Amino acid sequence: MDSKHRQIIVVDDTAALAETAAQRLLSRIAQDGARDGRCSVCLTGGSSPEGLYRLLADEPWRGRVPWERVHWFMGDDRFVPLSDPRSNMGIAKRLFLDRIPAPRGNVHPIPTDANYPEGAANLYADALQTFYGADKLDSVRPLFDLVLMGLGPDGHVASLYPQSRALDEKERWVLGVAKAGWEPFVPRVTLTFPALASTREMLFLVDGADKRDILHRVFSGEDLPGARVHCNGDLVWLIDRAAAPQGVS
Ligand code: 6PG
Repeated sequence: MDSKHRQIIVVDDTAALAETAAQRLLSRIAQDGARDGRCSVCLTGGSSPEGLYRLLADEPWRGRVPWERVHWFMGDDRFVPLSDPRSNMGIAKRLFLDRIPAPRGNVHPIPTDANYPEGAANLYADALQTFYGADKLDSVRPLFDLVLMGLGPDGHVASLYPQSRALDEKERWVLGVAKAGWEPFVPRVTLTFPALASTREMLFLVDGADKRDILHRVFSGEDLPGARVHCNGDLVWLIDRAAAPQGVS
């Protein structure tokens, strides 16, 4: 793991997890917005970020985010229409992006209306490269300011599943995944490790007792996507007490 700093933060419960994530998001935006005036946040699917998304839609957090400066991307999505209840961007839109004054051009969904997941992956790579202004990642100039991540019960992250060849991708930024390794079993489109790593901060959100075992395996360094993931900046595991493995506090 070549991340600059790895940190584990344990909070009391899911409410504290959402509050702490909102604080970190805000302070990241404040630091990075001051740099070049615009920020990029890569969102995650799953249930773990839902509390955060709800908080952002309402005061006091809603009034604190400089919406016009922040661009919102998605780390992976299910290959279903945005209106499908399984769509990661659909969920983020319903919970906050459609409820706040963000300019429409600041929301960048994976185009799951493309013909194939591979086609959507290529289109999304183009969109990311246009935003970044280059088609090669430069480690001193990260693509994202903040990448949110969840951890699947089998140790997957984004749509990068254990044993998948996608874990070894070094060049491409986005891949189509014909077969999901975890439910819902629909094809996926996912950012790769190099694209996700290009961030000032990667913030994992993990909660609930059913994640304790897999977190223990990841923290022990077992060969799982959650243990292989790295980032150019700070790698932060924000977990609640119920999910914390023994000895992690
Ligand atoms: C997805 C994801 C996936 C998710 C983890 C954790 O589309 O399913 O992006 O990687 O983040 O499975 O999900 P939970 O937060 O629901 O446990």
